[in-house]
Amino acid sequence: MANQSGLDPLGDELRSARSAKPCVLVIFGATGDLTKRKLVPSLMGLSKDGLLPAGFAVVGFARRPWTDASFREVLSEGVESFGRPETTEYFEQHRDAFSYHQSDFSNESGYASLKEKLEQIDAARGTAGNRIFYLATPPSAYSNILDNLAKAGLSTEANGTFARVIVEKPFGRDLTTATDLNNQVSAAFHERQVFRIDHYLGKETVQNILALRFANGIFEPLWNEKFVDHVQITVAESIGVGSRGGYFEESGVIRDMIQNHLMQVMTLVAMEPPAAMTADAVRDEKVKVLKAIRTFEPDQVERDTVRAQYTGGSFGGKDVNGYKQEEGVPQESVTETYAAVKLQIDNWRWSRTPFFLRSAKRMPRRVTEVAIQFKQPPHMLYDGAQTQPNMLLLRIQPDEGVAMRFGAKVPGPDMRIRDVRMDFRYGTAFGGETADAYERLLLDAMLGDGTLFARSDEVEEAWRIVDSIIAGWKQSSKPPEGYVAGTWGPQLGEDLLGEDRTWRRP
Ligand SMILES: NC(=O)c1ccc[n+]([C@@H]2O[C@H](COP(=O)([O-])OP(=O)(O)OC[C@H]3O[C@@H](n4cnc5c(N)ncnc54)[C@H](OP(=O)(O)O)[C@@H]3O)[C@@H](O)[C@H]2O)c1
Repeated sequence: MANQSGLDPLGDELRSARSAKPCVLVIFGATGDLTKRKLVPSLMGLSKDGLLPAGFAVVGFARRPWTDASFREVLSEGVESFGRPETTEYFEQHRDAFSYHQSDFSNESGYASLKEKLEQIDAARGTAGNRIFYLATPPSAYSNILDNLAKAGLSTEANGTFARVIVEKPFGRDLTTATDLNNQVSAAFHERQVFRIDHYLGKETVQNILALRFANGIFEPLWNEKFVDHVQITVAESIGVGSRGGYFEESGVIRDMIQNHLMQVMTLVAMEPPAAMTADAVRDEKVKVLKAIRTFEPDQVERDTVRAQYTGGSFGGKDVNGYKQEEGVPQESVTETYAAVKLQIDNWRWSRTPFFLRSAKRMPRRVTEVAIQFKQPPHMLYDGAQTQPNMLLLRIQPDEGVAMRFGAKVPGPDMRIRDVRMDFRYGTAFGGETADAYERLLLDAMLGDGTLFARSDEVEEAWRIVDSIIAGWKQSSKPPEGYVAGTWGPQLGEDLLGEDRTWRRP
């Protein structure tokens, strides 16, 4: 059936030609929020689309004295509240595939009994000795779990089986802790067994960045410093930190958003075409981009970055707190709720094209987008043309799609030029439900495809850059700027772009 755009909606046959091998997913921290809100609803989304293998089971590993029955009950509520429409019936079909294993992460005997349980599941449910371990826990628990998995022989791949580990963010809080964590992971698993999740990479529109660039002939010739004036990447949230002030104090937007999500998106926009669409070829190119960004010197931090905190304001007709009035935030806090950074990629493609990254809380709208702004024509023939530079806009959320801004003649006897927009919207073009990012990533981990997961060197390179910015801020005598909640940030953030450029206000 054709939709408004005249295209066929995404039929089942187009969804995936890929099928995963039987396996057991062991979720460490299964009584937590992530399992209930994201992981299990996403598994049921995969089931709905016929993408779960026939032999499949989930074991939840956590401390609380739950039973299989109480675990299943909580998961069922999670699927009901957070799953795609009609996924509860798929949970009912799979209910018996979910079981609970109670143990403390530090308890070695808990891993020995887990191993026995997994062997029983293999025999009963045909999961063929394949395992995926999902670390949905506080990062402080990772090393304990990795160590105990290795000691119990659970990280070894024998007789053609696979053993993989999925690691949640945050992956370290600086270069030193990330390197330590990479060492701990690599003591137990080979890099090809490791899947570091950044859920941004599971979003359709983020993957579309590569499709747009490398499946089309018209964009790539312009995708360089000769034609692109600058690139803006924005991840804006409208919410404040709420009751998570204590947690947020330890990170700030630079650790929480820029080191991972924005850097990942930036590398996809900036990378060279890979030799093939394989995990290592793609990640090799992403790492090269990060390596081409120099470590910031303190004076460059002063010049090329801006940090700020929201102050109280009016939002949606209500008065809202400033950051320092939020629960758990000390008066002397210098943690940034807004960060804007100018990155210079020192390679042939981008030598004169700055990339501006910005992320903040309490902005007017929740929006994630990449704006590629092109240079002005070398000579403007039309007097009084009311046009801005051409722009290609990749909207990642909400209202996913791609838009192009260009000048067109206003109908009438005069030669008047005005900006117009050509718009592609995912929803209208393809119809159907959009799968959650976790669905794609869980499926890829089952398939052993690491393309959309961060490799150890990517994570470390991103920390190298971010660490140098944080070090500059620590040395600086300038406290963070203020910006009123519900605005697009401080004036200094605007100034960062330089003359004739402004941040978009989506
Ligand atoms: N929630 C999200 O939407 C979200 C989004 C992105 C990333 N993440 C990341 O995902 C991870 C998990 O997040 P979450 O929100 O699910 O965490 P959470 O709600 O705090 O859950 C933590 C889990 O770890 C278990 N646990 C902690 N210490 C343990 C121990 N010593 N022995 C056994 N179990 C132990 C807890 O079990 P008991 O309570 O039974 O003791 C609980 O199941 C974090 O790294 C987080 O940053 C979460």
